[in-house]
Amino acid sequence: MTLRSVVLGCGSYLPQQTLTNAELAARIDTSDEWIVQRTGIRERHIAAEGEFTSHLAINAAKAALASAGIDAQAIDLIVLATSTPDNTFPATAVAVQTGLGIHHGAAFDLQAVCTGFVFALATADNFLRMGAFKRALVIGAETFSRILDWNDRGTCVLFGDGAGAIVLEAQQQSGKTSDRGVLTTHLRSDGRHKSKLYVDGGPSSSMTVGHLRMEGREVFKHAVGMITDVIVAAFNATGLSAEDIHWFIPHQANKRIIDASAHKLDIAPQKVVLTVDRHGNTSAASIPLAIDVAVKDGRVKKGDLVLLEAMGGGFTWGSALLRW
Ligand code: UT7
Repeated sequence: MTLRSVVLGCGSYLPQQTLTNAELAARIDTSDEWIVQRTGIRERHIAAEGEFTSHLAINAAKAALASAGIDAQAIDLIVLATSTPDNTFPATAVAVQTGLGIHHGAAFDLQAVCTGFVFALATADNFLRMGAFKRALVIGAETFSRILDWNDRGTCVLFGDGAGAIVLEAQQQSGKTSDRGVLTTHLRSDGRHKSKLYVDGGPSSSMTVGHLRMEGREVFKHAVGMITDVIVAAFNATGLSAEDIHWFIPHQANKRIIDASAHKLDIAPQKVVLTVDRHGNTSAASIPLAIDVAVKDGRVKKGDLVLLEAMGGGFTWGSALLRW
């Protein structure tokens, strides 16, 4: 017998306002055709004035708790992945904890940019398997619209706002790969790539928030290799293969990167969950948003083997293999 982190439910939230490629093309030198062809993105959601990352996260968390069928008081750990916190401190996770009416246990933010959700999932999983906490909310929530340079067409067309959450519970399982729950996680980082994707400000360096800067082509060049690295690690750790996977739910940065990764790993196209067309790149929120879409539309069912991966600023990259 072994403790595993089993998913009890999931939820997500998108700000009401959408921004289409055509609307962007009316403001800057770009076109719907270029954006769709290079990225697969058609529209993204943008948080309203006064709508913060914590607000998106609270809505996603409430939906996840409702889908899990448990009360917020049953949660004793909140790990919130974000690069766009409400404030430099305290952690946005604490605002979420308060917003849910929880005053016990622990809540903290985790920063691994687009890989944040995978890092947060791995962190919560380790705490639950250690027996340190019983039930965790793992959340990815972002308002990237606030750190974009809206005059930089190379970046501002790519990102969107949103939040997604899952509820995990420590449960005794057999220890085999047929178990429900998180089966394995693999995390990596390499700071030599910092200049390829970063924000040019921060409390300690500039005393400003700064704007996102990216050498898109350079990130693209590394993406597929890094994604493949952590997915092969997940397969090696479990003895499972691409054939065993029911659903591949990757970070949604660019359809071309997702297609190339799936192709390289022999993952059939019909197993790939794609939301980048509707959400754009929502950084740490993209995977839990895509999970929620695929669960709500009936694709992901209890017992399905689900493969998650992400790659982003740092660079950071990681994978998680879990049985729903
Ligand atoms: O989630 C974190 C990880 N981030 C990513 O995974 C992003 C990875 N990178 C990418 O997705 C792609 O590199 C981009 C979508 C950012 C760019 O696509 P690309 O095929 O690598 O294009 P490029 O950067 O090589 O630019 C090609 C051309 C350039 O013009 P020239 O120099 O060839 O004349 C750009 O100036 O496209 C131009 N361009 C645009 N044109 C119209 C760049 N952005 C735009 C735009 N609209 N929005």
